[in-house]
Amino acid sequence: MSWQADCLEWQPDSWQRKPARQQPVYPDPGALQNVLRQLHQLPPLVSSYEIECLKAQLAEAARGERFLLQGGDCSETFADCQSPVIAAKLKILLQMSLLIVHDARCRVIRVGRFAGQYAKPRSAETETRGGNTLPVYRGDLVNRPGFDPRDRTPDPELLLRGYERAALTLNFIRALIDGGFADLHHPENWTLSFARATPVAEAYQQRVHAVAEAIQFIETLTGASIPELQRVDFFTSHEGLHLLYEQALTRQVPRRTGWYNLGTHFPWIGNRTRDPDGAHVEYFRGIRNPIAVKIGPPITEDELLTLCHRLDPCQEPGRLTLITRFGVDQVARALPPLIDALQKRGRRVLWVCDPMHGNTETTASGLKTRRFERILKELELTCQILAEAGLPLAGVHFELSGEDVTECIGGACGLTEADLARAYRSPVDPRLNYEQSLEMALHLACLLRCHKPARVSMTSPAKPQTNLAA
Ligand code: PEP
Ligand code: CO
Repeated sequence: MSWQADCLEWQPDSWQRKPARQQPVYPDPGALQNVLRQLHQLPPLVSSYEIECLKAQLAEAARGERFLLQGGDCSETFADCQSPVIAAKLKILLQMSLLIVHDARCRVIRVGRFAGQYAKPRSAETETRGGNTLPVYRGDLVNRPGFDPRDRTPDPELLLRGYERAALTLNFIRALIDGGFADLHHPENWTLSFARATPVAEAYQQRVHAVAEAIQFIETLTGASIPELQRVDFFTSHEGLHLLYEQALTRQVPRRTGWYNLGTHFPWIGNRTRDPDGAHVEYFRGIRNPIAVKIGPPITEDELLTLCHRLDPCQEPGRLTLITRFGVDQVARALPPLIDALQKRGRRVLWVCDPMHGNTETTASGLKTRRFERILKELELTCQILAEAGLPLAGVHFELSGEDVTECIGGACGLTEADLARAYRSPVDPRLNYEQSLEMALHLACLLRCHKPARVSMTSPAKPQTNLAA
């Protein structure tokens, strides 16, 4: 069947006719169907209105008028569905966005890698320890991390537990935001209890004071308080990996055409499941959400063009985000031809950089880590490559934590390999801790200011400074 004919036939389950990578095999198909039936009847987690609002904001980011800040855990765990952990994630994203807004004079779209980031792609199907081989841990949505046959057998009940945890997380985030947690009049709400008096923290506090003064000045001048400052939009995202779960949350809504994934605002396709002829691309092409695809080695120009054509045939503004993750050693060689291929065909997408996943290494003791300096370097190179093509960096995608973890090496806090064992909590990939995240945001804001597209700049920003305490 031609692709054209196939297009007409999209249904939430049409992906089932294509090869699907990274899907768990459940021992009891009856139990699985029972769970999927329940999921299908449960209310959605987000609304089509919110999804369309995000899409419109992403369209602005593609034109360089906004900036996407996407971040959170590599893999959320059910155990971390607790108020302090969720609040800390929100706080660090709010702090980072304040820095970007203030230093780069740029409106920020905040998207959490949370409320559903429970399924992980893995490089091997099985794991062997001491001569025993078991199915690999695929995230809390699928099985359990313990090395025991019962823990590692995919359990469909976990799909319900994942949906519930996502709902609880989102409910708490919505309550915080609606209750004034993100109010710019009170950034003291976002202070992390364990924050140390470092140059990075001091640089952040200076921005907080500057923003407070500016607000006071404007409100005194106008005699009115600015309601836009009292709340922010917060959106959710996760890798749309487990297709039966995603399908169960795919719905039609009154007075809109098409289907929406109402389990998250902004799902993405991972680098391992982006085969243009595969099941994930088939599922994603039919939903109306804005979507992202991770692109990294070994993608070719042809593959990328096919992906863009299948996922965004009408070139809808804000529809398609490409998240690049080539690693610092490959980005300068791999990215320019891809940008060029799309530009020659007049395709507009959002170019977003994930400087984490191409820069993972394993220490002698077997821990996965990433170096702050390499992460930052990939970000700088990506920004520069895009600028040379006349394009804005539309956003960033980080694995980060609002907690005081020790998973990535380097940064001003000077974490070394020897520190990693102290507070290494991620079950999968290493995250920037709160201090490294803030420092990264300061550097990022500086980069954005340097590469600001001329037509967007309404003010004359001060001379770029790399000095963090400046
Ligand atoms: C991830 O985002 O956790 C991930 C697995 O990324 P990628 O698909 O880019 O490898
Ligand atoms: Co990851």
